[in-house]
Amino acid sequence: MNNFIFQNPVKLIMGKGMISELANEIPAGKRIMVTFGGGSVKKNNVYNQVKKALEGFHTVEFWGIEANPTIETLRKAIALGKEEKIDFLLAVGGGSVIDGTKLISAGLLYEGDAWDLVLAGNETNTVPLATVLTLPATGSEMNAGAVISNTATKEKFSFFSNYPLFSILDPETTFTLPGNQIANGLADTFVHVMEQYLTVPGVSRLMDRWAEGILQTVIEIAPLIQKDKHNYDLMAEFMLSATMGLNGFVALGGIPQDWATHMIGHELTALHGLSHGHTLAIILPGTMNILRESKGDKIIQYGERVWGITGGTRDERINQAITKTDQFFRSLGLTTRLSKENIGTDTINEIERRFNERGAAFGENQTVNGKIAKKILSDRL
Ligand code: NZQ
Ligand code: ZN
Repeated sequence: MNNFIFQNPVKLIMGKGMISELANEIPAGKRIMVTFGGGSVKKNNVYNQVKKALEGFHTVEFWGIEANPTIETLRKAIALGKEEKIDFLLAVGGGSVIDGTKLISAGLLYEGDAWDLVLAGNETNTVPLATVLTLPATGSEMNAGAVISNTATKEKFSFFSNYPLFSILDPETTFTLPGNQIANGLADTFVHVMEQYLTVPGVSRLMDRWAEGILQTVIEIAPLIQKDKHNYDLMAEFMLSATMGLNGFVALGGIPQDWATHMIGHELTALHGLSHGHTLAIILPGTMNILRESKGDKIIQYGERVWGITGGTRDERINQAITKTDQFFRSLGLTTRLSKENIGTDTINEIERRFNERGAAFGENQTVNGKIAKKILSDRL
């Protein structure tokens, strides 16, 4: 195991009715900007609960942080925040609202254009922020990452800042989620764990089993949730799986990580607007297939421990594990082929071009460059 220092400072506040805790957690005297998406919080009583908890606090609202938050929208929020001398941010919504608010938290203390911060990749001089999560998927409520889009240039890049001070997770807030968002969230959770797991075996028994535990939980609850979207306990397990999947806990000890599927997926969203989780469901089986040489041993472990695949030759076992993964995504109601989304070779060539231009080298062995990304995408036509 490599030496490491680990600290995840996010205070997790979980459960029914816990939005009322806002009043106890936000320091007195703050000038708060509360950020929202397009209005789902008005349909599930989240907005009312937040309003009530913040009675007596000085608040300004910013609405309209869209799915795959754009720099164009966030610039407006930063301008408003500066004008209002905001010194605390509360993001209320899914990963997009939270991610966008992370950029706002850095942008408020930056003189230049916030896109510079995205291009720089990180900025930890920030205004404190907290979250009320309404969509289990990204883990953004308990990590320091964000992904920001640029409509003008059709780009989508990761950005790292500070962790939220606290995050409130009430499973009841998920009861209004449409089926496709639940599917995206389950797929995203699954692939976050896979990106940190599906590399090489024998690095950490503990991290492997922790990861396999989340994967098995997601596989087990997914069909139950589809039948019963208002089941509190199931949604609570889903929420916690998503948070635990990307808050650093399954990657302790500096285990190798992949993230090539995510990087290719971000390009599909940037170019075609496909939902994040959906892009991953399309790409991951291709990453597994094209990188089957380097990942083969771990794919076999995954197949055996997660899907119970024990028979057959090495190649057959790898094939079965890929098929099971693809079938799982399709069982969520997601398509797993580019052609089903009318995406073809033009897009594949453009992603190859972008990766080449940027000198991309993703994956645990930094082998996923433009050429390999093209192979992965072509495998998913
Ligand atoms: O905007 P509103 O009206 O709130 O509607 C949203 C949005 O349309 C809706 N929604 C959210 N909660 C709801 C709800 N609808 C009904 N009931 C609720 N309780 O769902 C739609 C999608 O929301 P969004 O926040 O975009 O989804 P998600 O949480 O999947 O976030 C996706 C973004 O996160 C980034 C993605 O790239 C993408 O931009 N990611 C962030 C990561 C991170 N910060 O660590 C890691 C991830 O890998 C991911 O890349
Ligand atoms: Zn993701």
